[in-house]
Amino acid sequence: MAKRGKEFYNRYFARQSRFSILPPEDKYLFRISPKYKFNIIGSGMMGIEHLRTTYLEGRALIHGIYDPNPKSVTATQNVLSQIDPEQKLKIYDTLENACKDPDVDGLIISTPNFSHISVIKEAIKSEKHILLEKPMATTIPDAYEIYKIAEDYPSVFQVGLQYRYKAMYVEAIQEALINKRLGDIKMINISEYRFPFLDKVNQWNKFNQYSGGTLVEKCCHYFDLMNLFAQSKPKKVYATGNMAVNFKEFEYNGRKSDILDNAVVSLDYENGVRASFNLCMFSPQFYEELTICGDEGYLHSYENIDYLPGTKPKTYLELKLGEESNSRISQPCYPKYIEESGHSGATFFEHKYFIDTIEGKETSVATAKDGLWSIVIGYAAQKSIDLGIPLIIQDLLKEFSLNI
Ligand SMILES: NC(=O)c1ccc[n+]([C@@H]2O[C@H](COP(=O)([O-])OP(=O)(O)OC[C@H]3O[C@@H](n4cnc5c(N)ncnc54)[C@H](O)[C@@H]3O)[C@@H](O)[C@H]2O)c1
Repeated sequence: MAKRGKEFYNRYFARQSRFSILPPEDKYLFRISPKYKFNIIGSGMMGIEHLRTTYLEGRALIHGIYDPNPKSVTATQNVLSQIDPEQKLKIYDTLENACKDPDVDGLIISTPNFSHISVIKEAIKSEKHILLEKPMATTIPDAYEIYKIAEDYPSVFQVGLQYRYKAMYVEAIQEALINKRLGDIKMINISEYRFPFLDKVNQWNKFNQYSGGTLVEKCCHYFDLMNLFAQSKPKKVYATGNMAVNFKEFEYNGRKSDILDNAVVSLDYENGVRASFNLCMFSPQFYEELTICGDEGYLHSYENIDYLPGTKPKTYLELKLGEESNSRISQPCYPKYIEESGHSGATFFEHKYFIDTIEGKETSVATAKDGLWSIVIGYAAQKSIDLGIPLIIQDLLKEFSLNI
């Protein structure tokens, strides 16, 4: 059987309970032999997605977790018991012990944003491979410090900006950047319409101080994509936004939420590319859209999750090349079980490429430099809203004595 077929059948069938009757020696297609062991630091919603995805990908297992919240620990144990009833998670009592365990090859850090900087400073002592959730940090100085740490890090240091692996963006990257079918890219627009920020452990995402602000916390994904498509550094940012609908009455430990729920961000890049980003977080459905126009063509793509019955496609991509070449309409997708494993399959490919990079293969994973630039834009946009003026990125960086 070709390698490709074997991998496909492994993932799809291997963990179905109807095959649990098979003795180990009868498992060929369904044999799973993980080579790597990872620990999860911070096992909330995203930590559990990382756990599920690790087992679906198949080349690694989760050895243990460190999380100070007992409910997160129990929930993670419960999820693992459904995936592999034989395996018991090691529960660490300190961050240090979770990081330095010699049995483990890599660390997946999915703690709240504000804690990334302190967790990373402990994690790097291990020199193990690291997958650090986005946003890398909540401020530009912390993000810069992590970027410098990652530059000299002796193992893989990957940042969790995995939206670039959603099928719609993979195809857009292929057409716009690799095949260059749009010619020179001139304009980029991304929009996100979605529901409010979800509940979190200690509700850290309702406060700018802990999340970095909405445009850093969530929108770093989109600024990373814009940076990728623009292939340049941001020059000027102007943004407007406010808290129009969500969490206006929300209080936690006597403190009122201060996050914005809508914004319009416009960006000039150093190479002349113009970009804009629209965010609305009080939409009853999820809709994410990308439009890119170059001097030879136009690309429009969306992802739509609206919870309504019907047969509307979940994704759509059109490439319009006018009279010059063939146009194309498609529905980019992955197998259903991969899409359902989290973030439309993007997290699965983030794991696949994390392990590929560990194994020395060439990948296009998000680096700490990508993480830094996505935060620079988010931070600048937040500040532009606060001040009501456009910001020149290099002037902003000078305020932190940075020249990057
Ligand atoms: N890449 C993505 O698409 C994506 C999606 C969602 C969340 N995230 C990111 O993942 C991270 C976690 O988000 P979440 O949604 O899972 O939040 P969450 O609140 O559901 O989970 C966070 C967990 O971290 C634990 N924790 C807090 N401080 C800790 C510490 N110092 N050490 C160890 N554990 C600690 C909490 O007890 C909790 O269980 C955030 O950085 C978030 O931005 C990324």
